Amino acid sequence: MELSNPIVTIFSILLVLLISICIHNLKKQKKDAKKYHPFGGTVFDMLKNYGQLHHYMTDHAAKYKTYRIFSPFHGEVYTADPVNVEYMLKTNFQNYGKGTYSRSIIKELLGDGIFAVDGTSWQQQRRVSSREFSTKILRDFSSATFKECAIKLGNIFSEAAKSSNQIIDINDWFMKATTDSIFKVGFGVDLNNLSGATEENLKFMRAFDDANTLTYERFVDITWKIKKFFNIGFEAELKKNIKVIDEFVYKVIRTKTEQMHNSKDDSPLKKQDILSRFIQINDRDQKYLRDIILNFVLAGKDPIAITMSWFIYMLCKHPEIQEKIAKEIQEATEINEKITSVADFAANVNEDIINKMQYLQAALSETIRLYPALPVDPKICFADDVLPDGCNVKKGDLVAYLPYAMGRMKFIWGDDALEFKPTRWLDHNGYFRSESPFKFTAFQAGPRTCLGQDFAYRQLKIFSSILLGCFQFRLSDEKDEYTYRMSINIHVDRPLQVRVFNRYGLTDP
Ligand code: HEM
Repeated sequence: MELSNPIVTIFSILLVLLISICIHNLKKQKKDAKKYHPFGGTVFDMLKNYGQLHHYMTDHAAKYKTYRIFSPFHGEVYTADPVNVEYMLKTNFQNYGKGTYSRSIIKELLGDGIFAVDGTSWQQQRRVSSREFSTKILRDFSSATFKECAIKLGNIFSEAAKSSNQIIDINDWFMKATTDSIFKVGFGVDLNNLSGATEENLKFMRAFDDANTLTYERFVDITWKIKKFFNIGFEAELKKNIKVIDEFVYKVIRTKTEQMHNSKDDSPLKKQDILSRFIQINDRDQKYLRDIILNFVLAGKDPIAITMSWFIYMLCKHPEIQEKIAKEIQEATEINEKITSVADFAANVNEDIINKMQYLQAALSETIRLYPALPVDPKICFADDVLPDGCNVKKGDLVAYLPYAMGRMKFIWGDDALEFKPTRWLDHNGYFRSESPFKFTAFQAGPRTCLGQDFAYRQLKIFSSILLGCFQFRLSDEKDEYTYRMSINIHVDRPLQVRVFNRYGLTDP
């Protein structure tokens, strides 16, 4: 109680200050002769529309393509124009980066990992990570891990399918499955979220998820530095969670480094997980290892679970598309009616088989177009610049491209932009046809494009082919409409409740 009054006072002073700076900035820009993007609103409008922010941004993007939002701290420019996006992500890539502000926000959780840094530090990590990501060892190990997790998930769904009344929160299961798989691939550690995790693992997982959410709160709550200074409110929570994360991660790193030093077997085949591969390169700097691995875990965990959830949601809303995918899976895997378990089914799924599934690839891309895991991606402009549309941006401005809004623009996708239509991704022979990454921006584009895109599609296709091959999914209430909840990633707003139906007489666990 004693602390809340000074905070309310500080907050009120800040608010008055912010409004005056906003008015001052508005007047200043009016006098300036240079051309600027049209004014779409203020940060206060954005706060007012916070729960529906992506709708708000989509409406503005449809009206202006690129627009400015007034903020007291820096100019804010939001763009859905592929020409501007190509310029900021590729042509003048050096001029748009994370900057010190974003860095200060994510520093505790992500340290100096690839997501947090620019310049030479980023270049070095990108080079090493790209090389490691393209190794066959990591590829084979990750595919085997995805399959293992999909089978465990399938066994859980198989149980649920025994009673047609059983409703499951499929989003929760996907979160557990992707957490298990990225931990296995990242650290070589079995977290066992899907089948009874230890208390220590659960504590770590909770701390990781909470730290992620609390870090995002810093982008919204402008008083976070004050709270951090006094170690109060969500900042105190964040600090506790980071401590739990660090204890866990450093213990894993120490154990793995010792194991690798003591191991007589020097075969590279043993070093399958990402951590082992990086220890091989640099085993002296534990903070470097911690940062690298946590960045990969963050990158690989939620986006896959989110995409699987929206994918199942879309397929429940379009049962004819769900059946078409199931048919493609059955034809590609040449499965017969004698299948008795999920593992039996999964034995027929391999990389050659999933590469045949063009319609599945198209339906996944269509889901990602409408529900890109990262709906808004902000950059900081490092020097005054003019975008290809002739409008100015200033040093220090926040310039964000909008994957969510861009996925819904009629000027990019045509009049049917809002429809879920996998065939838009297929050529006249039924082969998948990729789109310009400056239009389909879900994976970013240019030199900093998502490093895990192939990895992500492989996991999504392995999960989907096993689960949609074995089961049919229906919403528990078919009329239910789901939307997003505001967070750094585009999570489904509440438990995604579905019923599961067996396609075969699966009897074995
Ligand atoms: C559907 C799934 C995914 C989507 C939509 C996605 C999207 C993105 C986006 C938008 C960025 C740019 C973020 C930024 O500006 O900081 C990014 C970067 C990155 N992604 Fe992904 N991602 C996905 C899955 C993955 C997976 C599974 C991994 C690896 C395990 C991964 C690894 C990375 C890495 C390392 C970067 C940083 C690249 C750099 O800064 O050079 N991503 N991703």
